[in-house]
Amino acid sequence: MRTVYVNGDYLPETEAKVSIFDRSFLMADGVYEVTSVLDGKLIDFDGHVARLERSLNELDMEKPEAFDDLLDIHRKLVALNNIEEGMIYLQVSRGSAGDRDFVFPDPEVTKPTLVLFTQSKPGLADNPTARKGLKVISIEDIRWGRRDIKTVQLLYPSMGKMMAKKAGCDDAWLVEDGFVTEGTSNNAYIVKGNKIITRQLSNDILHGITRAAVLRFAQEAQMEVEERSFTIDEAKEADEAFITSASTFVMPVVEIDGAALGDGTPGSVSTRLREIYLDESRKAAI
Ligand code: PDD
Repeated sequence: MRTVYVNGDYLPETEAKVSIFDRSFLMADGVYEVTSVLDGKLIDFDGHVARLERSLNELDMEKPEAFDDLLDIHRKLVALNNIEEGMIYLQVSRGSAGDRDFVFPDPEVTKPTLVLFTQSKPGLADNPTARKGLKVISIEDIRWGRRDIKTVQLLYPSMGKMMAKKAGCDDAWLVEDGFVTEGTSNNAYIVKGNKIITRQLSNDILHGITRAAVLRFAQEAQMEVEERSFTIDEAKEADEAFITSASTFVMPVVEIDGAALGDGTPGSVSTRLREIYLDESRKAAI
């Protein structure tokens, strides 16, 4: 049984409790982070904490009391649960004011709820899916306008994954005003020649921590990076495509809306970037 963390306590998962009045439960008034673990160490930890702080600020949410202890908490959970490869999920909500009310509770009285748990995923790095590639469909992006904040409002991304599943595919790319924003739970890229194209940062997409690292590694490896919007038609004509996220690292995409990219197998740029990302992240893991 997992040991999880709730507001200062390390507990067996069956004993961990959050109030039914918690605002993340009633209002999706919460933010989260997912940090991956390789070789029992944390990948891009500082980036995830910096983004968490930004999400909290953007929503006028108090930092949890244990904010400065997050590294210790992550490490303790990794140790207690013997995680070699997997993820750590962290969620902060605006807490429970003991009733349902649209108005934010007084932060002097109502403290944020902090929850963390581990997900063990042996084989996360040596994932056979990376050798096969993903098939994606495109769907309309009907999410709210602050996708740069990593909130727990994940109903539409879940629905998108279900639409993909129903279509015999692995995931969905979201399209707004004719241009791809991102994947349901990842950033989206196409490759044309030696050029990697991905949407520019704005409030329209999540500022992926993996994205930042991958673009840095790509430039260091003399690959060209262009941050701009692209359409599904352009993507279908690309040589390659891939996604990035903390749980998939760099994952090739081989089919978009039924159109195979290149020869329908993972491309060389995506495959190389995955290797570079895994190598460099392992070296920098803490
Ligand atoms: N998802 N875009 C969206 C909408 C996401 O939900 C995520 C991450 C990303 C990639 O961000 P990062 O590289 O920092 O993981 C982009 C996480 C993994 C999840 O919801 O499980």
